[in-house]
Amino acid sequence: MYSEYSMKVIEHFMSPRNVGSMRDPDGEGTFGDLKCGDSLTIYIKVRDNIITDISFLVFGCTASIATSSMITEMAKGKTIEEALAITEKELIDALDGLPQSKIHCSVLGVKGLRAAIEDYLKKKQ
Ligand code: FES
Repeated sequence: MYSEYSMKVIEHFMSPRNVGSMRDPDGEGTFGDLKCGDSLTIYIKVRDNIITDISFLVFGCTASIATSSMITEMAKGKTIEEALAITEKELIDALDGLPQSKIHCSVLGVKGLRAAIEDYLKKKQ
């Protein structure tokens, strides 16, 4: 069967990691794409400046589920600064690429993570 998605995208779509809401998160952020209607919420727990736990809820397409799952794997265990520095290209590369029409789905993952971190930083002040 031919698919325009990489095996990694399909695997994360079929078995997404870190799915679910979180009780008492240290940070929570939502980012949505008005054009396609997809929306991602990310929850984080932070200890000693490190993201120790992370989860997500997403309403969206195959690629948005895969990118949400992958960004949680990439961010877990990273410092706040390292997580903020994750780029859309790194996320796409980690998934072995996305079809051209689905590149914008990676924005959801990166911006959702940054929104959760910004919420954490705001609460910390
Ligand atoms: S189609 Fe818009 S996030 Fe996937």
